[in-house]
Amino acid sequence: MTNETFTIAIDGPAAAGKGTLSRLIAERYGFHHLDTGLTYRATAKALLDAGLPLNDEAVAGKIAREVELAGLDRDILSKHEIGEAASKIAVMPAVRRALVEAQRRFSTKAPGTVLDGRDIGTVVCPEAAVKFYVTASPEVRARRRYEEILGKGTAADFDAIFEDVKRRDERDMGRADSPLKPADDAHLLDTSEMSIEAAFQAAQSIIDAVLSRNA
Ligand code: DC
Repeated sequence: MTNETFTIAIDGPAAAGKGTLSRLIAERYGFHHLDTGLTYRATAKALLDAGLPLNDEAVAGKIAREVELAGLDRDILSKHEIGEAASKIAVMPAVRRALVEAQRRFSTKAPGTVLDGRDIGTVVCPEAAVKFYVTASPEVRARRRYEEILGKGTAADFDAIFEDVKRRDERDMGRADSPLKPADDAHLLDTSEMSIEAAFQAAQSIIDAVLSRNA
């Protein structure tokens, strides 16, 4: 982060609403936005496409160094199998080192940046001007994902989604390198009983207060 850049770090588990919140914040302040999950997904997809193994750290690290942040396509990368593969390679220090370096470079863009992921406030941008930890109960997150899939006209199995959310949490929170956890100075936004719109209003008040202090 440079002095001229205002960085907002947003972390939290899958389906807590941090993606939507990050996009709303980036739009509101005219900041660049990076969904860092897409960088792990792009690495996983490149491995899958090339028929390379998901358990070879040296190979995965090399592929991670080649990921282009400009070419990340959410529609293609949002597939379930890619998310599963991403969560496996995200435990590898060589992959994390390569992607964190690219994410840090992105975070210095002027006039400001919003990065969302699992380790932004703790590892990628520990000096971020504002940090949020967005969470919701596993049931609520599974319900949201279930309704999102149904909304697309696709069949969905709530129990399978619920198990998947819990398994993903365990992997993200239990890994040795950069586990998912709130930074000590993160503002907690629990969206279990709060709409994303209300979370956005709360986030905005916090950001505005910091911006006016810095002005
Ligand atoms: O948020 P997502 O589902 O797109 O993330 C895909 C995987 O990448 C997920 O299992 C956690 C991992 N990830 C990570 O380890 N660190 C980040 N900063 C972002 C995502």
